[in-house]
Amino acid sequence: MSPVSSINICSIRNTVAGCVVPFSEQDTGLTFKSNEFERAFEATLAECSIISREEAEHFVVKGFVLVKGAFSKEHASHVAEHAWRELEMAHGVERNDPTTWARPSPGPGPAGYTRLKGSEKQHQLRTLAPRAFHAHLDLVGGAHRLPRNGDQLAWGEGVISNLGIPDDPRWQPPAARQPGWHKDGWHFRHFLNSPEQALVTVPLYSDVQPKSGGTYLALDSIGPVARLLLDSPGGIHPDSVQGGGYLIPGLADQCSEFGELTGEAGDMVLLHPYMLHRVSINPSTRPRFIANMAPVLSEPMKFDREPDDCYSLVELATLHALGKTSCNFGQERPMQGFKPFPFRDENEKRLEGEYLREEMQVFAKKGYVSPDWAQDCGYMSNRAMSDSESVHSVSPGGRFE
Ligand SMILES: [Fe+2]
Repeated sequence: MSPVSSINICSIRNTVAGCVVPFSEQDTGLTFKSNEFERAFEATLAECSIISREEAEHFVVKGFVLVKGAFSKEHASHVAEHAWRELEMAHGVERNDPTTWARPSPGPGPAGYTRLKGSEKQHQLRTLAPRAFHAHLDLVGGAHRLPRNGDQLAWGEGVISNLGIPDDPRWQPPAARQPGWHKDGWHFRHFLNSPEQALVTVPLYSDVQPKSGGTYLALDSIGPVARLLLDSPGGIHPDSVQGGGYLIPGLADQCSEFGELTGEAGDMVLLHPYMLHRVSINPSTRPRFIANMAPVLSEPMKFDREPDDCYSLVELATLHALGKTSCNFGQERPMQGFKPFPFRDENEKRLEGEYLREEMQVFAKKGYVSPDWAQDCGYMSNRAMSDSESVHSVSPGGRFE
């Protein structure tokens, strides 16, 4: 297959050891060589309508793709303007006075980071943004893999703001040993084949330049997450991979490539559902507005498809990360929905905490032990459980983007 190192598809920049290098200078060709895998990739690519070969290869290797001009700048501007009005009316933020941008807002995240409800409007993606719609289909393996053939894909006008505190001294480049890394999906038990989160969809409602509050990505996290899930046929509790989850530090420790999500208003980034990410401090005067959607699949993913049943690019990226051409995942428990931790009452928190504690112990005995720095960064830890029953009980933490 042709290498994709020459492609310059995006302004996402990869930060390695603190220095930022252009994405286009990285080698992103398929690294897992197998005739069977290449045949499967070609069959999947033949079904794609807007994702190019280079973009498909990039997604399979790196786990994300930037779709330029996925929706109109007019829509981006409309949503951002609504966000400013909500910030002014509900949060006392004045658009023209950056000294007000850092006012405390409800929920987790740094100052200036606010989840805004937006209007009640829902826009069917097929009509609002055909490019964004077809990019979804290309990555999940076609309309038939989505509920109602994709008609259910819709975007509201909710926004995640990260307004910026100029020269905020707390800014740091992305690195493994930082708080808040997580895998999206606080509402379901996580399996290798989970259908509840097909992708992480990030529309950009403002330009997002480097060092301006863009979401941090652990670019080589798909492999560690996939290996954990493959080794967990009973699935894992959602709290274990949220912003304070005890499994996150061990996964982050296996990562060495980090980047920040940048682009222009009207662009859309589609992330593999396993991609670990976290909020970043915005030390600029450039407010950032994005959203974070979670499309669902109509059926669980499959990793042992027959030749006449194309894999999705998400499935191929998973297999590539595992270094396998196919994989028979023997799921041992049914799919299970959860009430996300911020919405549980006290009794639910207690019961769920007890259940999680049991699971932390099981995983400690399997060798999944939180590294010693976990608690210093605000994560739960099962380190003490590897040889005793005591555990450090910390909140699963906020859902940072
Ligand atoms: Fe997230």
